[in-house]
Amino acid sequence: MELEIEHLTKSYGAKTALNGISLRIGEGIHGLLGPNGAGKTTLMRLLATLLEPSSGTAAIGGVPLRDKAQIRRMVGYLPQEFAVYPGMSVLEAMDYLALLSGMRNRAERRRRIDALLEQVNLTEQRRTKVKALSGGMKRRLGVAQAMVHEPQLLIVDEPTAGLDPEERIRFRQLLNRFSEGRIVLLSTHVVEDVESTCEQMTVLHRGELRYHGRTGELTAAAAGRIWTAEMERGQWERERERFPVLSAVPEGAGMRIRILADEQPYAGAQPAVPTIEDAYLYLMRKEAGVR
Ligand SMILES: Nc1ncnc2c1ncn2[C@@H]1O[C@H](COP(=O)(O)OP(=O)(O)O)[C@@H](O)[C@H]1O
Ligand SMILES: [Mg+2]
Repeated sequence: MELEIEHLTKSYGAKTALNGISLRIGEGIHGLLGPNGAGKTTLMRLLATLLEPSSGTAAIGGVPLRDKAQIRRMVGYLPQEFAVYPGMSVLEAMDYLALLSGMRNRAERRRRIDALLEQVNLTEQRRTKVKALSGGMKRRLGVAQAMVHEPQLLIVDEPTAGLDPEERIRFRQLLNRFSEGRIVLLSTHVVEDVESTCEQMTVLHRGELRYHGRTGELTAAAAGRIWTAEMERGQWERERERFPVLSAVPEGAGMRIRILADEQPYAGAQPAVPTIEDAYLYLMRKEAGVR
């Protein structure tokens, strides 16, 4: 199974939210990383057939997006803002959403919903009204409804936002189990989410493709461009504007700073091995023009 995206473009009036993106994504969890406005939600809504592309195409396992009915059976989607009728119980909401996903057989729905609620740890809340769930529980209900019809492509839009660290770990494990033999596309603006979950990743910035490949190889983008230095505070205060600083941490009486520069920014700076976070920041700033 492969997701093939060819020159996909989406404009909202004069605004181009996604500009001619081409990607090939295989089985496993794929990270879609980018700041707000990068086009992540737009790409996901296109793949879920909730938006029409302005131009370009995509196919899931060879089925083109324009075969909407078939694509919808193949795709599960957890929107960034997951909302469901607050007055329904967890069980009612799941049953309703499973029906919308095309599961016509009542007994099969019931079996699948019971198993999923167990997996996302909501069995105890099955009779609880959706409005009474915590944020983390709502998120788990959201992902359960996206998985209910066992889609071949699962799309989850910023699913870890608002989860506490323990919930994040559980969520990761859930996606890991589910991703076997399927494609999971996970968007985030947090580098750490991608680093710990995704072997392959894509970076978007203002609708443009900035990176597509192995997560571990992203660091190559910033190789030779990351420098560390210790600075006395007075000097730091006077000169901070001179360097593209990635981070500055107080250390003893001075500062330990991390600088992004094509060449040694000043005599005291030492070359450093880039982290994924460094490389991401580099990709984000490249366009704006690094000094
Ligand atoms: N319905 C819309 N109408 C006009 N502009 C939109 C609409 N939806 C998104 N945009 C714009 O498209 C760009 C990409 O948005 P989005 O896909 O939501 O990015 P992300 O999910 O990465 O934050 C942004 O500049 C956003 O303001
Ligand atoms: Mg978004």
